[in-house]
Amino acid sequence: MTTWPVQGLAYGGDYNPEQWPREVWDEDMRLMRKAGVTLVSVGIFSWALLEPKEGLFEFDWLDQLLDLLHSHGIAADLGTPTASPPAWFMAAYPDARVVSRDGTVMGFGSRGMASHSHPAYQEAATRIASELARRYVTHPAVAMWHVHNEFGVPVGEDYSPAAVTAFRAWLQGRYQDLDALNDAWGTAFWSQRYEDWEHIGAPAVAPSVVNPAQRLDFARFTDHQLRQRFIAERDAIRAHTLAAGVDQPITTNFMANATLTTDLFAWAREVDIVSNDHYLTAADPEGEIGLALAADLTRSVGGGAPWMLMEHSTSAVNWQERNVAKRPGEMARNSLAHVARGSDSVLFFQWRAGRKGAEKFHSAMLPHAGESSRVFREVCELGARLGQLGEVQGSRVHAQVAILWDTESFWAQDLEWRPTVDHRHQERIRAFYERLWRDGVTVDFVHPGQDLSAYRLVVAPALYLLRTEHATHLEDYVASGGTLLVSFFSGIVDEHDAIHPGGFGAPLARVLGLTVEEFLPLREHATGTVRFGDAVLEGDVWQEDLALAGAEVRGTYLTGPGAAIPGKTGAAITRHTWGAGHGWYVSTRLHGEHLAAVMDEVYADAGILPPRPAPGLEVVTRHGEDASFVFAINHSDHDHQLAVSGTDVTSGVSADSHTIHAGEVAVIRTPVSREGGDGTHAAARASHPLA
Ligand code: GLA
Repeated sequence: MTTWPVQGLAYGGDYNPEQWPREVWDEDMRLMRKAGVTLVSVGIFSWALLEPKEGLFEFDWLDQLLDLLHSHGIAADLGTPTASPPAWFMAAYPDARVVSRDGTVMGFGSRGMASHSHPAYQEAATRIASELARRYVTHPAVAMWHVHNEFGVPVGEDYSPAAVTAFRAWLQGRYQDLDALNDAWGTAFWSQRYEDWEHIGAPAVAPSVVNPAQRLDFARFTDHQLRQRFIAERDAIRAHTLAAGVDQPITTNFMANATLTTDLFAWAREVDIVSNDHYLTAADPEGEIGLALAADLTRSVGGGAPWMLMEHSTSAVNWQERNVAKRPGEMARNSLAHVARGSDSVLFFQWRAGRKGAEKFHSAMLPHAGESSRVFREVCELGARLGQLGEVQGSRVHAQVAILWDTESFWAQDLEWRPTVDHRHQERIRAFYERLWRDGVTVDFVHPGQDLSAYRLVVAPALYLLRTEHATHLEDYVASGGTLLVSFFSGIVDEHDAIHPGGFGAPLARVLGLTVEEFLPLREHATGTVRFGDAVLEGDVWQEDLALAGAEVRGTYLTGPGAAIPGKTGAAITRHTWGAGHGWYVSTRLHGEHLAAVMDEVYADAGILPPRPAPGLEVVTRHGEDASFVFAINHSDHDHQLAVSGTDVTSGVSADSHTIHAGEVAVIRTPVSREGGDGTHAAARASHPLA
């Protein structure tokens, strides 16, 4: 059981005092106290200050900083600075520079830069992590460790000579002999056969499309290399925490669905606490849905355990095309939405806005406008609010619906030369997630190999790469009474990106009662229609010619290439009974209300009554030992009533119904509820009739 680094919910952010004169640090302490800050991440980009020359360590400034934090009752999440190798390192080891897929050798003067596969980088990174831990595991301010920063960016795939050498070694470990590799990669195609390991390279830009199995393996290798770097630094720190007998969790900050370089289900097994960075996409007018998705994914990869929001922003970021400032109240809504979905911290990038460098236009807890600014006022209000929510720490979110998430499927699916460029895996994930979010249904993301028995409904949006054993697992889930909803381009290839024999979707043929005879992608901007009961649904991008083998036809193509195929029913949407459950299939791309019509029938099969909150109202429940906490977040510009019996934790008012004011968040403490999770079945619905 991991010790939580602070009492209650942690509040604070990245703190970079090395960028400021010493007198500013005292001002920082005063203002952190005022804001209710309890935890700051320090040292993340400080390598050049901590080790100004190779092997020469200078810790005085960090000693002073940690002492100062401790004297003000603020805990430190101590970072290893390995995401930013110093100038001396890059000068001494020029061949450690990262090379991009198109062959560009990356320069200095930014961050990242070093190849994770280069032995000198590996050695230097492990050494600085170890030296920091040797010195600081016994410091009373240090509550936890933050390894590196956002593994996967800015250095993800690396095509440097060191990476190529490491890739060959990794392939030898994976395949043992060249025949196995040639077979897995299908190198009989285009004369790609290898007779010598030394001839194999990284899948760099080539005259035409590169072998997709090679690219998939390179994605796996990249994930593996990065993870080994985390493990090496973690173990260097752990050697010292163990020797000192201290309990300091070690984490690294993920980027949930923002960057798919890393397979977070595998990473989550390596960290003591899962932590995540999330930034709104300004171009997305409903950023709260993307936020919820990222938060649910973060919780899910960690198996539901409390996690940490390691970074988000108080207002605008600086790296998007149009950096939209958060409106009054939005920062609190964002923060509490993460807490509602299982985060036990609210941390920001960063404490004080920087005057210099590439991020000077990024918002901060303490903006350039200073203590009297709106943002700082809201930061103080949020700190006070989180202080009242301490008892939420450790409570958990329950879900009855799962969306399948397999990072390998992402890696394989979005490569070149697929049936249409208009289909992206993430788009389908978001479309189904969005439907469930609007219906008020809480979702877990689950790897297809995981136990599914807790879920009434499992959704598989475009699960392109599907291992046969995972397909069998899905069959068993349905046979024992589960409801499975599969959308097009699922069950197409195996782990080597080779088409499964037996027709498209063959591994799912038994559970769905069909295979796909032919994909029928639509021309750009074209749409097609489906008759579904009394409704006519409109879809775009994709249709199919299905080969039915037992499935019941619930929707038929009216227009588009799927309609009027001689001798065919034009089946578009099907339902199949398999054992005690049902397998649904949707063969076109549906959105919004069109998808809702199908989901209604699927919910009915799964025995789910979605709570359907008022538009703009988001309701999620966390369950603790002694109480449950209903978080109601009103994203709309008018008030809503929430009929739930309990006490508003902030106002202390007990009532059977609470007004959730426009733009505000309420947290209602209710008696502990063992059932109902998120209110998606009849019993729970009765106590959550939302106005
Ligand atoms: C990332 C990094 C931070 C900072 C922020 C800015 O999440 O981890 O160091 O650059 O982005 O949004």
